[in-house]
This record gives sequence, C-alpha cells and structure tokens, in this order.
Amino acid sequence: MSLLIKNIGELFDGYKIIKNTSIYIENGKIKSIGREEKADEIIDASNKFVMPGFVDCHTHAIFSGYRAFEIEWKIEGLSYKEIAERGGGIAYTVEQTRKASKEKLKKETMERVKEMIKHGTTTAEIKSGYGLDTENEIKMLEVINEIKNNASIDIVPTFLAHAVPKDMKADDFVDVIVEEMLPEIGERKLAKFCDVFCEVGYFNVEQSRKILMEAKKYGMLPKIHADEFSCMGCSKLAAELEAASADHLLMTSEKEMELLADAGVVATLLPATPFILNEEYPDANKMLRYGIDVALATDLNPNCYVTNMQFIVQLACYKMGMKPIEALKAATINAAKALKMEKKVGSIEVGKNADILIMNVPSHLFIPYKIGVNLVEKVIKNGKVIYSQQ
Ligand code: NIG
Ligand code: FE
Repeated sequence: MSLLIKNIGELFDGYKIIKNTSIYIENGKIKSIGREEKADEIIDASNKFVMPGFVDCHTHAIFSGYRAFEIEWKIEGLSYKEIAERGGGIAYTVEQTRKASKEKLKKETMERVKEMIKHGTTTAEIKSGYGLDTENEIKMLEVINEIKNNASIDIVPTFLAHAVPKDMKADDFVDVIVEEMLPEIGERKLAKFCDVFCEVGYFNVEQSRKILMEAKKYGMLPKIHADEFSCMGCSKLAAELEAASADHLLMTSEKEMELLADAGVVATLLPATPFILNEEYPDANKMLRYGIDVALATDLNPNCYVTNMQFIVQLACYKMGMKPIEALKAATINAAKALKMEKKVGSIEVGKNADILIMNVPSHLFIPYKIGVNLVEKVIKNGKVIYSQQ
C-alpha cells in the first residue's frame, strides 16, 4: 500500500518549516519527502498546513467519575488542597474508579481516546493511579493494555504512584507498591514507565526514589510529577535517576534546571493545569535557555479535562511565551522523546511511522492564532486515514 500527500502548502516536519512539498508513504512508513512518486492513493492537501500527529505524553485518561462539581469552587478561588478537603480531588476519583467495572472504564476511556484522535493526537500515554490498591491499579493497567491493543493510535501505559490511601501511612503504602504492585506489573509487562507524584502530602523524595529504583529493576523507566506545588528536590531526583521526563515543573529552581539539562531529562510542561487552577505557568523560556528539551502535554484528568493538544500549543504560546515552532516541536518530537519513542514517531522523516495531520489552515502560525475550534482536517496514523472532518 502506498500513499502520496501532495500539494502541501507548508510542512512542519518536527523541527523546521518546508514550503510546497509532498510526502510519499509505503506500508505505513515515510519513504520520501518532496518527491511526487506514483502511489495507490493520493491525498490533495490543497496548499494547507501539514504536521506530525500530536504526541500527548502525559495523561490520566483512565478514570471514572467527572469532577465538574469542583468548577464553582475553583472559580471561588479554592486551592487544589482545599478542594480535596471538601470531598473533591484524587480521593473522589479513587472512590468512583474502584467502583467501576473494567467494561465501564474501557468504554469511558475509549471515548476520551476518540476525542483525542479527533483533535490530532496519534500517540498517547495513559497512567494508572486512581486505584491505590493492588487490585484496582492492576485493573486500570489491564484496561489500558486492552485499549493499547484495540485503539487505532499508539497507547503507552504508565504505572503511577499517585497518592496515599486515606487509611494508610505513606511508608506502608510504599511497601505495598514495592512488594505487591511492581512485581506483578513488571512480570506481566503491564507498564513501560513508572511515575510518582513527588509532592508534600503525597510521596516525599525518599519514598519516590525507593519506588522508582525498584521499578527500574523490572525494566520500567522513571518519570516524576515534580515541583507542581513545591520545590522539594524532585527535579534533582529526576536528574539523579536519569528519568525519561520530569513533569509539571511550576516551582523548579534554576539549579535544578541545570541538573535536568545535564542529565538529558525532558521537561514536560502541562499548561492546562495552571490554567484551570489559576496559577503561575512554568518558565518555559528559562528551561529552553538551559538547553532542556521541553515537551508539552494535556495532563487530561478529572481535575483538568483537556483532550485537545491544539489548545495546549495555544496556552504555551500565549501564556508561556513559546514561539509557535517551539510549541509545535514540544508537542510532537520532544513529547515523543519523553516517551522514548523519538525513533518511531513525533516527526515527519524518512523511515518513521507516517503519523500525519492535515490542518485546515495555511500555515503553522494559525495553530496558536485560531482558538476554540478544531483545526484538524485529517488524521493519518501509520499511513491510514483514521479521522476525517465531515
Ligand atoms: O497531574 N498532580 C497530580 N495528579 C494530577 C491531578 C490528579 C487529580 O486531581 O485527579 C495532575 O495534575
Ligand atoms: Fe499528571
């Protein structure tokens, strides 16, 4: 099977802009750029803007129970912590997710994945973390893996040590994670990454180190929810463990930025979270100046329900001062790096998977410019059209 996408007005290949070009695809892989080969199928891009599929490298897309009831509290100015104390937050979602059957979880998550696809996501990471006991964390990971086997996009499963259950001491729960959860997840190969919410009131640096070091023994690669509300040395830990990424980074110090840069840890920024929590945004430009690879993701979760990576690019440009090209790079090839998938996805290069978006705009500048509508015309995954705007 071969496919030619011709009459591309502007192409962003993951790194730079190329004008007036074409992409030739064979058996789902990119074969050549700029050569109009004979093909079984032709798509005329009609001078529109074409780019790699978005890589959403940080989501909590699997959960049950929406938290729309928190909206008015947020508008009143209640903090994340105060909302949790009023019966919202992670504990509420844990209760709902524990109650949900695998079928229900799968159906609800699949709907979210479809929403992501429609908005241009062709690779998505999904974390567990709303089970908080062995049975329910495994249940979540099993569902993520079923979705991975059935979805038309790449799904990457992550085990997340998200919070300490109400009735337990943190150290005791860490023992459960290390002695029960990780061995089973490791043996059954249910997760590529292990992530920890390293934060005051969740897991401290010592506990996070213990979990991530143990996960490494089973071949799971470390990731860290770091410096979201406080700076307590989580980025330093990410650098020490050579984590694939450190995520959030609202409070990261310059010293730690230097460490992340030296260790080659990707900084995954999630601007929708400070947007809905009315907080300061991370300093993307400072991180870029330190030479850190900056990635972007939605953080889709019941606290921050965003499936659309175009909106994330818009926030990155307007609220974090990133240039459109930098933001698009962060949402594609750098995000692929955060998932250790940069050899296969995230850019339009010969030999890579043909994950391509045809956007209903003439240039990349229109992605941050046109807000509030879906700009995706076609989503191509492994050389096949999986979504087409009606
Ligand atoms: O990445 N920060 C921790 N976890 C999620 C939010 C989880 C929740 O509130 O349900 C996040 O923002
Ligand atoms: Fe998160």
